[in-house]
Amino acid sequence: MMDQGLASSAPTPGASFTVAAPPDRRARASSGDLTDLYAPILDDLLSAQRIFDQELISDLPFVNELCATIRTYRGKMLRPALLLLAAKACGGVSKSHHTLAAVIEMVHVATLVHDDVLDEADERRKQPTVGAMAGNTAAVLLGDYLISHAFHLCGILDDHYALRRIGKTTNTVCEGELLQNVQRLRRDLTEKEYFDITQRKTGVLTATACELGAKLAGADDATVEALSDYGLWCGVAFQIVDDVLDIVGDEKQIGKTLGRDFSLGKLTLPTIHCLANAAPETAAALRDALTASDSCGPGRLRDWLAETDSIEYARSAARAYVADAVRQLDILPPSDAKTSLISMTEFVVRRRF
Ligand code: IPE
Ligand code: IPE
Ligand code: MG
Ligand code: MG
Repeated sequence: MMDQGLASSAPTPGASFTVAAPPDRRARASSGDLTDLYAPILDDLLSAQRIFDQELISDLPFVNELCATIRTYRGKMLRPALLLLAAKACGGVSKSHHTLAAVIEMVHVATLVHDDVLDEADERRKQPTVGAMAGNTAAVLLGDYLISHAFHLCGILDDHYALRRIGKTTNTVCEGELLQNVQRLRRDLTEKEYFDITQRKTGVLTATACELGAKLAGADDATVEALSDYGLWCGVAFQIVDDVLDIVGDEKQIGKTLGRDFSLGKLTLPTIHCLANAAPETAAALRDALTASDSCGPGRLRDWLAETDSIEYARSAARAYVADAVRQLDILPPSDAKTSLISMTEFVVRRRF
């Protein structure tokens, strides 16, 4: 969800974060929040973007064309920013951190490209999805290309610790997606099962980002573990809010297709809560709508959820997770990067994109 790469045109307001090209190194973000939060690591994020772009260059012009969409429309860059902030808060950012920040973003983008095929989504980062532009076959292959390059890039690091951790993480993300797929249309999905999916598909990647940031900065084991937990709880809260926005978000502002969770038969925290707490007629209507061939439409779903205040329930769960995340940071000495990590949790729960 991004508007531009290292250079070129003005940013589109909304769902993206942009680092401008040198010599003008000002951060131009659609969200003042993110500009401020990323301030301690802006130059590092720019280096990571450069590595990302460089890695994807091919001798095949059509491959470059396909990758251009990814280079020019970046998202919020949350995961590389978390990795770099964790590094800075734990001692300092190195070249290996720049590489790993690019790797983490590449894994993330690969999952999005594939996820849009699964979700039959038309829009991502304020532009047509790869599938909508070039077809689902190209999207599947591009996702593979990105994953392959993420591991190729990670392999250049002398120490293979990060490679192993990234490999373990992508295994878990895939398990999360497989689990979500197999649980689709389950009317009795529990909160526990939902959190299992959420931790695997989203939480572990942000956990690994923070863990590697800390580890490669030379942090001790307790600090690495605390940063990993911080990342995990941030990631879980992020996904809960994403699931809330899928129901009540503004498609224009967020810049991606919304409403697919329920229409494709996936229960998320708000709908699970509503099913468990609604009057019997509402719960029955919700259950039927989940498995009906034509979905009930976003308006009716929002009405049902309002009866049980289920959107607020999910938001308060996200707030509780980030409160846990913030507590993990007690182990760190004061710094600008630590302040940003704390504020990042507020962004995660308040965000509208
Ligand atoms: C979307 O992630 C996918 C989820 C894990 C919910 P982001 O909202 O961080 O997407 P971008 O990278 O900013 O586009
Ligand atoms: C996140 O789930 C997907 C991955 C972690 C791969 P979503 O399906 O909710 O992501 P969006 O909403 O399409 O960005
Ligand atoms: Mg999706
Ligand atoms: Mg979503």
